[in-house]
This record gives sequence, structure tokens and C-alpha cells, in this order.
Amino acid sequence: MDQSIIQRLFFALWPDDAIRSALAAASQNLPIKTGRHVPPHNLHITLVFLGSVSSVTRARIEQAAEPISIPAFDLVLDKLGWWPRPQVVWLGASAIPEPLRELVTGMSEEVRRYGLKLDERPYRPHVTLKRKINRLPELGAVDPITWNVRSFSLVQSQSAPSGVIYQVLRSWDLRE
Ligand code: 2AM
Repeated sequence: MDQSIIQRLFFALWPDDAIRSALAAASQNLPIKTGRHVPPHNLHITLVFLGSVSSVTRARIEQAAEPISIPAFDLVLDKLGWWPRPQVVWLGASAIPEPLRELVTGMSEEVRRYGLKLDERPYRPHVTLKRKINRLPELGAVDPITWNVRSFSLVQSQSAPSGVIYQVLRSWDLRE
């Protein structure tokens, strides 16, 4: 790897204020007393987790994202779930819209060409709502949230004593 700056990066769907409020409300309405809420300003959906990336690779990845031409789409978040290993409760989608699948598959193919090792598991779009939940909780029900996705973003993740800090570095519009 070259000697340039290393950043921990991922592509994500970053909510606007209205969707962020709806996600935060869904999190507050969970009938679960244990665990820690993800702070509202950190709520998002990861598209492709890149991990530690040099500035040279970052520049290539940004160039690869430029020509992506995928239509805007609606993503309906209608399903709550729990994963035992990361110990998280999440809000996800029962159906993955075709443009979302294309976006994730296309970007994953591009970044693999730069030698990045990506998650091989099937893509499951989700918003992590609560962390540190170590046994299956009563999840209750959720009012579906329809997110009209019009852009995607490259985000930096940094650890801080106060918790993780995410910074949107750049966003690209989807086709209207
Ligand atoms: P999570 O919300 O399910 O924890 C930033 O870390 C984002 O990338 C989080 O949304 C996290 O998912 C996701 N992510 C995916 N794979 C990851 C990995 N191997 N390490 C850390 N975060 C990962």
C-alpha cells in the first residue's frame, strides 16, 4: 500500500432530516429497555463497507462512483430484527429494490478491482437502531418508513472517546 493518509470509509445512504426523525422515532418506540440507542445523527444504511483505504485508493473509488447512473428509488423500511453476533437491533427492508441491488453490486465490483476485501455475505440493507443487545428481545411492530432515495454518500468513520463519529465526505445524485 502507498504511504498516503489512511481513512476508514464506507458508502452509505444518508437520511435527510425527515427520514432521520422517523428513524429516531422508530428507535425510541422499540419496547426494549436494554442496549444503547445509536444517536440520531449517526443513523444510516451502509451500502458497501470499504474499511481502511489510502488517499490514492479513495481518489480512484470516487472516480469509479462518478459515472454510476442508477434511478432514484423508494426503499420501504418495514421489518425489525436482531443479530446475535454484532448484538444489534435493526430496521430493514423485506424487499430490496432493483436499483439498490445494482448500486451495491456495481460499486462492490468496482472497489474489488482496487484490491479491497469486501463482505461476501448477501447484502441486507438495514439501519442499526440499538447496540449491545445480547439476547433476542421482544421487537414489537414498526410503522413502515418509505425513504425516497435520491443520492448516496461516501462516509468516514472515526473512533472518539465519545463514540464513533461519521462524516459525509461526498455525495452523488441518483437519476431522477
Ligand atoms: P452496522 O450498522 O450493522 O454495525 C460503519 O461502521 C458502518 O459500516 C456501520 O453501519 C456498520 O454496520 C457497517 N459495517 C459493515 N461491515 C463492517 C465491518 N466489517 N466493520 C465495521 N463496520 C461495518
